[in-house]
Amino acid sequence: MKLFLDSADIQEIKNVQSTGLLDGITTNPTLILKSGRDHKETIQEIAKYVKGPISVEGIGSTCDQLVKDAEKFAAWAPNVVAKIPMTFEGLKAVQILSQKNIPTNVTLVFSVAQAVLVAKAGATYVSPFVGRLDDQGSVGMNLIQDLVTVYKNYGFKTKILVASIRSVQHIEEAAKLGADICTIPYSLFENLSKHHLTDKGILRFEEDYRKAMSVFKE
Ligand code: G3P
Repeated sequence: MKLFLDSADIQEIKNVQSTGLLDGITTNPTLILKSGRDHKETIQEIAKYVKGPISVEGIGSTCDQLVKDAEKFAAWAPNVVAKIPMTFEGLKAVQILSQKNIPTNVTLVFSVAQAVLVAKAGATYVSPFVGRLDDQGSVGMNLIQDLVTVYKNYGFKTKILVASIRSVQHIEEAAKLGADICTIPYSLFENLSKHHLTDKGILRFEEDYRKAMSVFKE
């Protein structure tokens, strides 16, 4: 399973990049706003540190606007992926962009029906939002289970990129179900490596090591 960071914050990206475990980045207008910086400048700086795919989202309600924006973003860095909203205009844009070899990530996907259209349009990635489904009382991970089954049924090539992740459990479930990618907020990334028994075990081994060393010295 690939791990992407859902962030436009350079310091966060550098920190995760330094682990050697970062496969890509997703951004959205909310994250760009939060970064407080110019859109193009931010994406180009991210591209200095991240060689994997970087999803970049604009706005636009027509296919033409979406294609124009995507072409603009694709010129910013070679690894840009155009993030496209889940609408019929968006799906038309996906088909045009795929002919132009511009990878796409269809975002704000909340149902199997939407995800089937995304795959049929030939998108590179589909982004189902699990946390926002949970927020409204549904079980977001059920959608991931369904998408894994349906995409397998038809051999769809579109990669399932689990988004709107709120917990380590979401990531564990996604891995068990065989989702291709999780895009993770920075606050969660650190938690992935943690377990209280690991911390306890490290302390115990450190203590015992020191004791053993003092015994050998004697
Ligand atoms: O990048 C899209 C997605 O991950 C947003 O998550 O927490 O705003 O629902 P959230």
